[in-house]
Amino acid sequence: MREPRDETILTVLRERFGLTGQCGAEVGVSFGVLSVKLLELFPALVLDMIDRWELPPRRPYSDPIAKRSRQALRKTREEATRVTEFAAGRRRIVHADSVAAAAGYADGSLDWVLVDADHSREAVLEDLAAWWPKVRTGGLVLCDDIATRLGKEWGWGVEEAMNEFCRARGLAWRNLGHGVGVIEKY
Ligand SMILES: C[S@@+](CC[C@H](N)C(=O)[O-])C[C@H]1O[C@@H](n2cnc3c(N)ncnc32)[C@H](O)[C@@H]1O
Repeated sequence: MREPRDETILTVLRERFGLTGQCGAEVGVSFGVLSVKLLELFPALVLDMIDRWELPPRRPYSDPIAKRSRQALRKTREEATRVTEFAAGRRRIVHADSVAAAAGYADGSLDWVLVDADHSREAVLEDLAAWWPKVRTGGLVLCDDIATRLGKEWGWGVEEAMNEFCRARGLAWRNLGHGVGVIEKY
């Protein structure tokens, strides 16, 4: 079953890129639940799945992921690998910090990036700054977990980061609902 959030992400990508080839990066993968849906819907998608999993975080987390053991996080990585095995030829698992991973991409080399990693304002700002240049003109940068109930409880700052990032560059972002925001790159 598709959650409204997943449907929102899949729909905006389908409307922009159709069902033909596209190169996308999911920054923050966890168990690979969304990765599976992306790889299933888009048969020619080349998907980079970027997550630090059990590697040390860039800064301490304020939400419950911080409480998960290294072993549990390693199992999460193994699960993401397992569930996307059906598309092994067109998914690349990048086990690294998101900002470090971005350095390995040429500018303009991706059609889209989904930022869904550490949801603190500082981390989202760093992720947006690192990944924005990697997306081609005509591409999309999506952010997840904008203004959600859990976000308020756990002190996330995705919306603040998007506002700040866009204001500094004269850009605008659109709220697609269900916690998803998009910046179009023109
Ligand atoms: C909300 S989950 C991702 C959910 C996934 N996109 C989905 O929809 O199924 C966030 C993930 O981001 C990863 N993460 C957090 N900070 C990161 C960082 N600095 N670099 C890479 N991954 C990070 C965490 O390990 C966690 O698995």
